[in-house]
Amino acid sequence: VFTMSVFGVSTFCVVTGASRGIGQCIAVKLSSRFGKDSKIVIIARSEEGLIETKNQIKVVCPTCEVVCVVADLSDPASTKVACEKIPSLANDGFYQHAMFVHNAGSLADVSKKLSDTTDTVEMSHFWHLNVSSAVALNAAFLGYFSGNPKIRKTVVQISSRASEEPVPGLGLYCSAKAARLILFKVLAIEEPGIRVISYAPGPVKTEMWDSLANIHNLDMKSMFQTMAESGVVREPSATVDYLLQILEADEFESGSHVKLADEPVTNDHSQDNE
Ligand SMILES: NC(=O)c1ccc[n+]([C@@H]2O[C@H](COP(=O)([O-])OP(=O)(O)OC[C@H]3O[C@@H](n4cnc5c(N)ncnc54)[C@H](OP(=O)(O)O)[C@@H]3O)[C@@H](O)[C@H]2O)c1
Repeated sequence: VFTMSVFGVSTFCVVTGASRGIGQCIAVKLSSRFGKDSKIVIIARSEEGLIETKNQIKVVCPTCEVVCVVADLSDPASTKVACEKIPSLANDGFYQHAMFVHNAGSLADVSKKLSDTTDTVEMSHFWHLNVSSAVALNAAFLGYFSGNPKIRKTVVQISSRASEEPVPGLGLYCSAKAARLILFKVLAIEEPGIRVISYAPGPVKTEMWDSLANIHNLDMKSMFQTMAESGVVREPSATVDYLLQILEADEFESGSHVKLADEPVTNDHSQDNE
């Protein structure tokens, strides 16, 4: 039980995959809720994308310190460097809340079904990005913060309904999301002093969503097309607002999987530049 609030306090936060899409929106919206003396570390491969995110953060949180870490989380050496940076980035401040948002992810090659999936080197990179790097970054983060019971600690992992439902064409993606779901349920049990949540954002208009158009399975292809036309695909800001509401209410059971239902939505574009 933490006495200090989720938002409005001095926060150290890491967001992976923050160069575009949902992760960029999470980084910007979260930092708009931080208190003074906060720091956000944003990780992705694209430095240009991270700088754009940093500029957006500076608009909503001029006092936030923003650190861009360029890393390829599908690569073990690059991930190790990113892990090693976390303690030194955290140790120059006094924080009331430490947050980690595991958002970076990829779909793998959706034009192939499992019986065409043969390249184990490519698979290793996929697993490294979607599973192993999240575990290692999380351990680096908790290795620094878990010794201090006074700091509120929150771990968010961005999940998907594909973690629980088999989707033809998304075999590797489904299995990585399923692995993450159980990993973070285990984490919640192993670390009772930490608030852990898996959040499935629903269908969201991003590059990842657009690449589903190449899916080999024709039934899935037409289903995704119908979804796009029927208005169930949200803007990142809509799903991120919902995530922030859940975090702020602070009523979720640690380790639980919270899914945003995919009923038709009205995307409120006025929120996009918040
Ligand atoms: N969009 C949806 O409909 C949807 C639905 C359910 C769940 N999700 C989940 O939401 C999360 C974000 O997805 P999104 O739709 O925003 O996807 P996106 O637009 O493709 O963005 C993915 C992010 O991950 C980063 N990333 C990809 N490969 C990386 C690598 N090798 N190393 C470091 N960072 C890497 C990308 O940055 P760089 O390219 O700069 O590295 C980017 O910032 C993912 O976990 C996804 O599975 C999305």
